[in-house]
Parts: sequence; C-alpha cells; structure tokens
Amino acid sequence: MKGVSRMGWKKIATGAGLAAALLVGVLAVSRGMGGERPAMAEGRWASRAVWACDRRKLVIVEGVRPDERIPEPRARLVADLLMDLMRYCEEEITARVGIDQAITVTVRGRVFENYVPGSELPLQLAHAGKPHSARERAIWKAELDTLVAEGDRLFHSDEIGTNGLACAMCHPHASNTHPETYPKFQTQLKKVALLRDMVNWCIMNPLEGEALPGDDPRMKALEAYMLWQRAGVALSPGKH
Ligand code: HEC
Repeated sequence: MKGVSRMGWKKIATGAGLAAALLVGVLAVSRGMGGERPAMAEGRWASRAVWACDRRKLVIVEGVRPDERIPEPRARLVADLLMDLMRYCEEEITARVGIDQAITVTVRGRVFENYVPGSELPLQLAHAGKPHSARERAIWKAELDTLVAEGDRLFHSDEIGTNGLACAMCHPHASNTHPETYPKFQTQLKKVALLRDMVNWCIMNPLEGEALPGDDPRMKALEAYMLWQRAGVALSPGKH
C-alpha cells in the first residue's frame, strides 16, 4: 500500500493542479462514505467511488476523477470486484483499487491487501449456498400472492374502465393475453410494445379508461396476474 501511495503521488504531481486533485479526491471519498471514514477511504489523490446496487459495497478507484469515466480494463476489474463482494450479502465492504491495480479490501475494520478477483475473503457468507429459510420463502410467497390476488380482482372488476367492461369478459383466466410474447411489434401501436402498452391499449379502447403509468400499483397487479396465469410457459419475445 505504501508503494502504491508514492507511485500515485508522483503521477498526479506531474499532472496539473495537485491541490485541486487532492480536494476532489477527498470530497469524492467523504461524500461516498456517507460521513464515516474507514482507514482505507482517506483520499490522497483524485478517485471515483462506485457503489454496488445494495449500497453496502463501495469500490474506490484511484487516479480517476469523480467526473471521469473509468477506462475499460479498470472498469471491468471494478465490475468483477463488485460481483465478488456482492457474495457477502449483509456486509459493508470498502475496496480500493490503486493506480497499479492492487486491491485492498476493508471489512469491519479488517484489512485484506492485494486481493485477487475471484478469490475468497475469510468471511462467513450470509447464505453460503444454503437455501433460503422457510420463513423467508413464506413471507415472499405471501407478498406475491397478495399482488396476484389484487390483479385477479382488478381483472374481473369494471373499475379500471368507465363503461362497465372488465378484462376477464374478453380474456377469461387471462386467455389470449400472451404476456410471454413481449416485447413484440404490435401493428395497432405501430411499434415494439411492452406488455403494459397492450394493457393500456385495452384499457383505453374497449374499457374507455385512462392509461396507467408503468409503475402504477394497478399495472403491477394486472401484469402479475397475467404472468401468474402463464406460469411455466417459455418466454418467447417477439412471437406472434
Ligand atoms: C372487449 C374485449 C376486450 C377487453 C374488455 C379487453 N381486451 Fe385485451 N384484447 C382484446 C382483443 C380483441 C385483443 C387482441 C388484439 C390483437 O392482438 O390484435 C386484446 C389484446 C390484449 C393483449 C395482447 C395480447 C397478445 O396476444 O399480444 C393484452 C395483454 C390484453 N389484451 C390485456 C387486456 C387487459 C389487461 C384488459 C383489461 C384492462 C383487457 N385486455 C381488456 C380484447 C379485449
């Protein structure tokens, strides 16, 4: 790590604006860390922080400004590293990729230097290949069942439209809705449509209702119900 610091220092010093680089690096890192400052996160030069989608894993890429794209070979290294770290579901992990590509990983105050992507950290994995617990499964199933049941109710109700018609009158048990064929080109719409575009088309035309936004809970419920009815059917986007 010490060797890395000196190397990086020299590189930036030969470039323009050492003070600015320092400031940007420190700001980027302290903002990325949400206030906490583990030992490894002290910025010495410009660095770009990349969070994993769980917002628990942070990779700090040294030598890249916060507004700069990470060049291809290093970006790939960051992606590999994030995928590795995501195996440790519950952990908060910070990894630092040095200018010489050396990787230092910090977890709960433990520091692992020269981490090689693809290798294992000596940590207890939350799931470690174990199946999810019966309790977890029961909760997830209950949540999904609730959504599907709401979709079932809406599909049989006239409240989505204004003229008394309901989806189920023309599509009993979601017949002929073919959710597994989306996205596909729809001649009525003259474009490639998602399932929700066709749902809206039917809401506006036979049902004389107002189109629903894609993230509307009613749209989610209708989609869940139609997909549920087609469980086990192979996906075939574009099929007519
Ligand atoms: C009056 C009868 C009628 C009602 C009511 C109706 N639809 Fe349709 N729907 C159709 C017809 C007819 C088509 C076929 C259009 C085509 O593919 O040419 C269709 C097509 C669809 C498709 C695309 C099917 C495919 O094969 O790609 C979906 C999805 C769909 N409807 C969902 C709904 C939903 C959800 C509702 C209720 C909000 C609804 N429909 C209400 C008649 C109806």
